[in-house]
Amino acid sequence: MYRYDNYDQAIVDARVEEFRDQVARRIAGEMNDDQFKPLRLKNGLYLQLHAYMLRVAIPYGTFNALQMRTLARIAREYDRGYGHFTTRQNLQYHWIKLDQTPDILAELAKVEMHAIQTSGESIRNISADQFAGAAADEICDPRPWAELLRQYTTFHPEFSYLPRKFKIGLIASEQDRAAIKLHDVGLRILRNDAGEMGFEVHVGGGMGRTPFVASLIRPFLPANRICSYLEAILRVWNRNGRRDNIHKQRIKILVHDLGAEEFTRQVEEEWQAIQPQMDDIPMKEFERIAAYFAPPAFETGLSDDLDLSDPDFARWVKHNVHAHKQPGYAIATISLKKVGETPGDISADQMDVVADLAERYSLDDLRSTHAQNLVLPHIRKADLHMVWQALRDADLATASLDLVTDIIACPGLDYCTLANARSLPLAQKLAERFADYDVQRDLGELKIKISGCINACGHHHVGHIGILGVDRKGTENYQLLLGGSGAEDAALAKITGPGFDEDGVVNAIERTIDKYREVRADGERFLDTYRRVGFEPFKEAIYG
Ligand code: HEM
Ligand code: SF4
Repeated sequence: MYRYDNYDQAIVDARVEEFRDQVARRIAGEMNDDQFKPLRLKNGLYLQLHAYMLRVAIPYGTFNALQMRTLARIAREYDRGYGHFTTRQNLQYHWIKLDQTPDILAELAKVEMHAIQTSGESIRNISADQFAGAAADEICDPRPWAELLRQYTTFHPEFSYLPRKFKIGLIASEQDRAAIKLHDVGLRILRNDAGEMGFEVHVGGGMGRTPFVASLIRPFLPANRICSYLEAILRVWNRNGRRDNIHKQRIKILVHDLGAEEFTRQVEEEWQAIQPQMDDIPMKEFERIAAYFAPPAFETGLSDDLDLSDPDFARWVKHNVHAHKQPGYAIATISLKKVGETPGDISADQMDVVADLAERYSLDDLRSTHAQNLVLPHIRKADLHMVWQALRDADLATASLDLVTDIIACPGLDYCTLANARSLPLAQKLAERFADYDVQRDLGELKIKISGCINACGHHHVGHIGILGVDRKGTENYQLLLGGSGAEDAALAKITGPGFDEDGVVNAIERTIDKYREVRADGERFLDTYRRVGFEPFKEAIYG
């Protein structure tokens, strides 16, 4: 993984001290919150319903055991003993005290972590495939490119006062495990017919109040031109994006208003214009960064055999283990979705267990996923059973990846100032309703995603089944949506009709699922059945 050089470390350390001074001035009453807000948001600090919330960046979801142990210690000493992994692969603490924030940031800086640009109108943490560098189906490790873009965009003057936040997602395989088409810019690394490496460039995706799937604006951009092309995209937005209405300021609105064709024309024109002034990033710099992502020292000659005689282990392998590019190795996903728990939450003790496992069995490598789970990317198959036992003992061996109980949910009304409804108890109720493994297995891949308001932090627009919390005359109400996808077959879900109360929506989902069972073809996913038979049969089942 990337290691800070002296410049990186100096920047992050200086940032901590600057913020320490700002916090001291706020506490001394020299600033009110209106004055302090833009300063704290530059450092990932939100003021939520009950407390401050700190969002720690995990660049492209990659971190190591030492960093995880530090996150655990912070959870224990400064929070309530847990952390929450988010849909942008970051970690949030929900019970932070303002006066302790500089110390927390100093602890993070010691292990090359920070909270810079995790909020505010900036380029946010770049998300990437959580299996990067390990996946059997990738054409290269996308993370050196993500790191290049991270360095290029952090504190870049052109990107300092953007109309709104800006999110970039990056993958290097056909399977999209990072929801790139729901990002402001979604990049997929591919090779053209001549074997050259480049990017497929998608722009203008996003969720929130006005959701869009991104438009493909360039099927192939030579890889070494990515920085100037991204700059052209951002300049067109910076110049023409709206700044008069906070709900219309994202780049997706500009792409929609101009039309993808006109937007593309402007980007290409801008790109041509900046070529003479800008020599892109020297490939030497890319190679310097890429060297940090050299494949780890995999052992060779390992066996691919697995003893699956233990049925609980076999179940976990079936759902949570994926193919690795190196023979004898596997990728293991640690679910943070135990039935009855809060999706994405992990206790400090569990963090320590995961850190130990990463160090001992996964070449000191850890990943977080946009579905709020964790990954041990490089496990020798011979060690898998041992790893699973340790996870089981720590209550972390839930075997349900992509099944009906692997629910994404935002924090909702339990934490969030903007929420209209709770999402966590609903996620728990749904998981309990479908807790039976035979039911889950029978239903197969089925992604439920819940947001407590239109901002869509819980990705309800791209749930196979989505739930949106709304406020109906002061009571919590839930709208049901069907048919979304955040993967390579990205699609936006459609609202079924009038909303329900909490129990009502759980029952409505049960009716939806019963209908799926009735009309599905053999081996067909819920989403494919929905696409084949359409909306009406489900609507009828839901509303009668
Ligand atoms: C406890 C409070 C909050 C938490 C835990 C939270 C978490 C998240 C996370 C993890 C995402 C990532 C989803 C994504 O972008 O793909 C997200 C998205 C989003 N958040 Fe929040 N957020 C919180 C509060 C807020 C606040 C204060 C705003 C301010 C308006 C906000 C507005 C949004 C919007 C609009 C999106 C959708 C992004 C898109 O267009 O794709 N959230 N939030
Ligand atoms: S979707 Fe709404 S309720 Fe949920 S975390 Fe985001 S802003 Fe808060």
